[in-house]
Amino acid sequence: MLIRYKKTFEKIAMGLLSFMPSEKDLKKLQVTMKEYETEENWQLFLWKEEDIIGLLGVIDEHDTNTLVIQHISVNPSHRFQGIGKKMVKALREMHTDKEIISNENTAAFIEKCDVC
Ligand SMILES: CC(C)(COP(=O)(O)OP(=O)(O)OC[C@H]1O[C@@H](n2cnc3c(N)ncnc32)[C@H](O)[C@@H]1OP(=O)(O)O)[C@@H](O)C(=O)NCCC(=O)NCCS
Repeated sequence: MLIRYKKTFEKIAMGLLSFMPSEKDLKKLQVTMKEYETEENWQLFLWKEEDIIGLLGVIDEHDTNTLVIQHISVNPSHRFQGIGKKMVKALREMHTDKEIISNENTAAFIEKCDVC
């Protein structure tokens, strides 16, 4: 299930975020984590089964009622089992009133998810 990020999950969240090609640089990764922790409209979710195995990061653009998926990542040992698509579907079900879009870093995968 999709759960909200908490500070106790910082290490696992940073590990998952680092699989994004745009977050390979440690300094960039730290800045991104800080933004998720401090910016009210930056929201980070984790996918928990027995362990935490996925991450989904969005910006909630209140003005346009839009959620922009800017980060999505699944633990390499659990890829190609539908987790990525399940996370996007769970976000859709959590926010039926909002438009969900991707950005340039997530479009290639999100286009395969039937939500945009
Ligand atoms: C992208 C990612 C989250 C997909 O997670 P997943 O749980 O393996 O995905 P699912 O099992 O739900 O879906 C698999 C489908 O996604 C496709 N896919 C996987 N990675 C993809 C990528 N980077 N771009 C486009 N499509 C991708 C697969 O080819 C497969 O397609 P199919 O349904 O036509 O067979 C995962 O590969 C990952 O963490 N990648 C590293 C982080 C990353 O690059 N994120 C941005 C992706 S644009």
